[in-house]
Amino acid sequence: MRLDDIVKSLASFRNFTGGPNDRFADVTFATFYSLCILGMTPKSRVLDIGCGALRNGFLLMNYLEKDMYYGVEPNTAMMDEGKDKLAKPFLQDKTPNLSDTDQFDFKGSFGDVVFDFAFARSVFTHTSKSQMDLCFKELAKVSRPGTIFLLSYKPPTGIFGGEYKGKNWIGRSHESSTPGIAHYKKETIVAAGKPHGFRELQGFDHRILQALQEWLVLEKT
Ligand SMILES: C[S@@+](CC[C@H](N)C(=O)[O-])C[C@H]1O[C@@H](n2cnc3c(N)ncnc32)[C@H](O)[C@@H]1O
Repeated sequence: MRLDDIVKSLASFRNFTGGPNDRFADVTFATFYSLCILGMTPKSRVLDIGCGALRNGFLLMNYLEKDMYYGVEPNTAMMDEGKDKLAKPFLQDKTPNLSDTDQFDFKGSFGDVVFDFAFARSVFTHTSKSQMDLCFKELAKVSRPGTIFLLSYKPPTGIFGGEYKGKNWIGRSHESSTPGIAHYKKETIVAAGKPHGFRELQGFDHRILQALQEWLVLEKT
């Protein structure tokens, strides 16, 4: 498998790839590497929230044991194109579990599974605050003490930069093709996770690799 060839295939995508295409492989590698630093092994059960065109999914399907990759993506056209152009070699042998829920309904989608790792790259950069809360609530139902949740975010910038106050998803999705970003402070996200039993795990900043956005590492207590 050559990452170069995979990156070239992006030129043929009709749907959003998750962008930017010139940094696509950097993000794939940085996310994968960071999950490994946090302790992911081939035996881990991993949930990819907002898995998009399977930018991270195709590499995880290859690495993880059969049946251990779980992806959620309501934009089915985007995910189907990723299945066809990135993940095809792994679909049959690795039997990934995929869902199109847009309600973060992980339990309803996948049943009584418990994840070792969950990650959401560039998802809390688009959710409303209530969607963030719902994601934590639903993730808690499929977590155990010690489950790691790696998520990316974009803090507000500049003197006038504030947090996103809208009520809906902002940015590309199954319902919109208009770009947009939700900015949140790290403290806001940590506070949203707290009532659902997630706490910040410190000490990883210098070890995990940035994937164009800030990472926050949480652990279920
Ligand atoms: C910026 S993209 C990131 C995709 C992928 N994580 C990556 O890094 O390439 C955000 C993704 O979240 C998806 N999304 C939209 N609403 C969602 C929801 N309610 N639950 C999960 N994902 C959602 C979008 O369709 C889009 O694919």
